[in-house]
Amino acid sequence: MHKIAVIGGDGTGPEVIEEGLKALKAIAELYKISLDVHPMDINGERYLRTGEVLTDQDMAELKTCDAIYLGAIGHPDIQPGILERGILLKLRFDFDQYINYRPVKLYPNVASPIKAASPESIDYVVIRENTGGLYTGIGKFENKGSTDEVATQSMVYSYKQVERCIRFAFETARKRHQTSPWKGLTKDQVHDGKIGKVTLCGKTNVLTYVFDLWERVFNDVAQDFPDIITDYTHVDAVCVHMIERPNVFDVIVTSNMFGDIITDLAAVTQGGMGVAASGNINPQGLSMFEPIGGTAPAFTGKNEINPMAAIGAAHLMLDHLGHPDAASHLEKAKVSVIQQMRSMLAGKMGFKTSEIGNMICDEIYHMAHS
Ligand code: IPM
Ligand code: MN
Repeated sequence: MHKIAVIGGDGTGPEVIEEGLKALKAIAELYKISLDVHPMDINGERYLRTGEVLTDQDMAELKTCDAIYLGAIGHPDIQPGILERGILLKLRFDFDQYINYRPVKLYPNVASPIKAASPESIDYVVIRENTGGLYTGIGKFENKGSTDEVATQSMVYSYKQVERCIRFAFETARKRHQTSPWKGLTKDQVHDGKIGKVTLCGKTNVLTYVFDLWERVFNDVAQDFPDIITDYTHVDAVCVHMIERPNVFDVIVTSNMFGDIITDLAAVTQGGMGVAASGNINPQGLSMFEPIGGTAPAFTGKNEINPMAAIGAAHLMLDHLGHPDAASHLEKAKVSVIQQMRSMLAGKMGFKTSEIGNMICDEIYHMAHS
């Protein structure tokens, strides 16, 4: 039995999560996985009503769950930062979800703004450090409000924080190619019989303290993975490669802030926010899975938003909960429905949000009985 906390959140969050839950229920029935779905009222509306973001009671309830399935958090009437820090980042930090796992995969029939893109050339994972660096909020104002004002925000990393993140990236590279060493790797990614590749994305030429540490830790951890190719690329060059030669990437590991930025760029190359999903992972604790598209206020309540990213978050969650076959079944059903859609963009899909959820359920059933 898996108890899943469901936080629909704000905007289009609840709509896409509803479709994801439909698909999860269909797949769970097929694979005899028992799910206990536990909806929670955590969002901007509640904050406006009660002044609460995350209560002790919420945290206590979440602690009894095996995973969190999250829609989106954000509200146009609430000052930026309150919900982000009070809900999303608090969950990541308090549950020590130190990995942000972001598969970047271009599915067949999905339009990419990159001309030369193909499903073979865009297939990698970004491992973003998820609880440290610039996100900790360490900083201060001096002489605030005057023209002598100075504001500071610090990027702080410890060896241990960096080490656990980089180790996870190497393990991910190994796992991606476990079944067949060459599977999924392009010519550029394979050298000397090694089975996968981890690229450290940093800025060693300017951030000479923090990324010096990252690079030393990277080299230390690499000693334990002689089967994995290692590579270093500055973050600005990573952006160029993502557009011009994404096939050079297999697993990218990077800091919180750089990871935030490059994963949005990566999402665009794989067809946009309608398809990109992520896992906030604590390998020993409570993890949280979310589509990365945000609240999309312009589409709220219209039944026009693309639920594929939420479906993607659902199969990441199934995989994490120890059901790789069910996860891959759901991903295949997703790929098949994508073939029938006109576009991945909200309002242009050729189907309503709820229709797509139903199509996925039909496809899950069809695949099992054909
Ligand atoms: C993301 C989001 C969050 C982040 C925001 C909403 C705080 O952009 O998940 O990438 O910056 O991490
Ligand atoms: Mn972001």
